[in-house]
Amino acid sequence: MTQPKKRILTGDRPTGRMHLGHYVGSLRNRIRLQDEYDCFFIVADLHTLTTRPEKENIAQVGQHIRDAVLDYLAVGIDPERSTIFLQSEVPETFELNLIFEMLVTVPRLERIPSLKDMAKAADMESMPFGLLGYPVLQAADILLPRAHLVPVGKDNESHVEVTREIARRFNYLYGEVFPVPDTMVGDVPSLIGTDGQGKMSKSLNNAIFLSDDEKTVNQKVRGMYTDPNRVRADIPGRVEGNPVFIYHDAFNPNVDEINDLKERYQQGTVGDVEVKKKLALAINNFLEPMRERRAQYEAQPGLVEEVLVAGTERMRQQARETMAAVRDAMGIYRLPQLAH
Ligand code: TRP
Repeated sequence: MTQPKKRILTGDRPTGRMHLGHYVGSLRNRIRLQDEYDCFFIVADLHTLTTRPEKENIAQVGQHIRDAVLDYLAVGIDPERSTIFLQSEVPETFELNLIFEMLVTVPRLERIPSLKDMAKAADMESMPFGLLGYPVLQAADILLPRAHLVPVGKDNESHVEVTREIARRFNYLYGEVFPVPDTMVGDVPSLIGTDGQGKMSKSLNNAIFLSDDEKTVNQKVRGMYTDPNRVRADIPGRVEGNPVFIYHDAFNPNVDEINDLKERYQQGTVGDVEVKKKLALAINNFLEPMRERRAQYEAQPGLVEEVLVAGTERMRQQARETMAAVRDAMGIYRLPQLAH
């Protein structure tokens, strides 16, 4: 008998098109592990409500959901092998979230810095109850399919830590129901933006999107921040921390070319223009297969919805099984007269 595959659950809030930072932080690991694990990828639309509950924002989420699924398919997530599903269509998520709310304290959640940052970024003067509960809802996502591994970007590491604590606490109180999942952070856990100012993010306007065309990539790379002290090509430049070289290391498979450029950059014998031209070429080569897959999928109307429906049905089945085990383990009183 072969062992059943271990499970992965990870995903994203549908807030817009995904970029290179998402790729190196988490998407790359998902694709790499697609065969080894039984993968569940969540489009976490409920999580967008924690900072954007207004009706105008909800109205845009549908488009963002489709964009997210197209990004997944374009990078090579294969809907035949992996389950892509929509969080809000799995009612057990709300159920498990409530149970988990009893297993974590308010001070524990208040210690998570990313939640305060999110509240600030959304101009909220005080913390909504639901935003404080963001990591608890995430724990419900991860543990509903009883996942063993969570590939995420560095910013989500502290949330998965909460999931681990909740899983342990549940198992201690009620018996072993959940695995205690491991976190896996990508090779470039937090990719710097093209402006060199902070991490790549749509709202900071410093992102190269996976769906950018060749011209857009060329333009963005041409405008990239490099070594500010290097006002001329014959001045020795800094390679460490220089976004142009960070991107070369992350996206250019030609190591000899990178080493040559770095050496000449440090000696002051190569101009920014050549370094950037080669980088734009490397990024375009990297994105080209994604563009082709995206075009193929886009040419099939209704496909994105079909993928989501099939995935959500499969997730619902898993969710029902897990909730039955949860109620059983907890001994929650049941009315036998009601159909379950
Ligand atoms: N918190 C993730 C983000 O930053 C989205 C998310 C929701 C998630 N549920 C998850 C990630 C479960 C991994 C596992 O967008």
